[in-house]
Amino acid sequence: MTKLSVNINKVATLRNARGGNVPDVLKVAQDCERFGADGITVHPRPDERHIRKSDVYALRPLLRTEFNIEGYPSREFIDLVLKVKPHQVTLVPDSPTQLTSNAGWDTKTHQAFLSEVLEAFKQVGIRTSVFVSTDAEMIEYAAKAGADRVELYTEPYATAYPKNPEEAVAPFVEAATVARKLGLGLNAGHDLNLQNLNFFYKNIPWLDEVSIGHALISDALYLGLQRTIEEYKNCLH
Ligand code: PXP
Repeated sequence: MTKLSVNINKVATLRNARGGNVPDVLKVAQDCERFGADGITVHPRPDERHIRKSDVYALRPLLRTEFNIEGYPSREFIDLVLKVKPHQVTLVPDSPTQLTSNAGWDTKTHQAFLSEVLEAFKQVGIRTSVFVSTDAEMIEYAAKAGADRVELYTEPYATAYPKNPEEAVAPFVEAATVARKLGLGLNAGHDLNLQNLNFFYKNIPWLDEVSIGHALISDALYLGLQRTIEEYKNCLH
């Protein structure tokens, strides 16, 4: 089964726009679970412009499904994750001011750094995932660094999909096959949506998890959160 982890950062962005507690991020996370999400993802950034550290602490005891924290492994981020102990941590190479993750790690250049950070998480039993492109060498070095999983950066797939779905997915099937041969678990995320998700899943049915935020929260404006989550789940069958 491919799990759907809902990234709730956009909900926090909306809340922060007014300074109060509407919408209530904690309630939305719990409702996502109630409506069938298999996990919740948050991406706390140093400037707390969407998810705040206090949200991350508050979510931990409330969630009943899988909690995934993604982010750049600064000292502050590492300390937060070690304290909160989510089920999974996903490392992204973002700079603090970046709008959104827009590239995978250069796992070869940063192998020593990643090994050290991944080991710290492993020691307390947190599953680790490293955000990568479809470059086979980057996946191999993620495995060498000790990652449990890789998360494929799917923006290039989403961009190419409308013109030629087969061509768009081909490098991802290859990368997913490399990951599988190396014994790595496989996640995917970025710009996945109701149009392109099912095709991706059908081509890579051994995918462990997708992490989806922007399109899903946007769809919920039209469809409502419950129906939206049901429709995304239906894409994973
Ligand atoms: N995976 C990672 C590592 C991300 O940084 C993001 C965006 O925060 C996502 C998945 C979700 O991407 P989207 O919001 O486009 O669904």
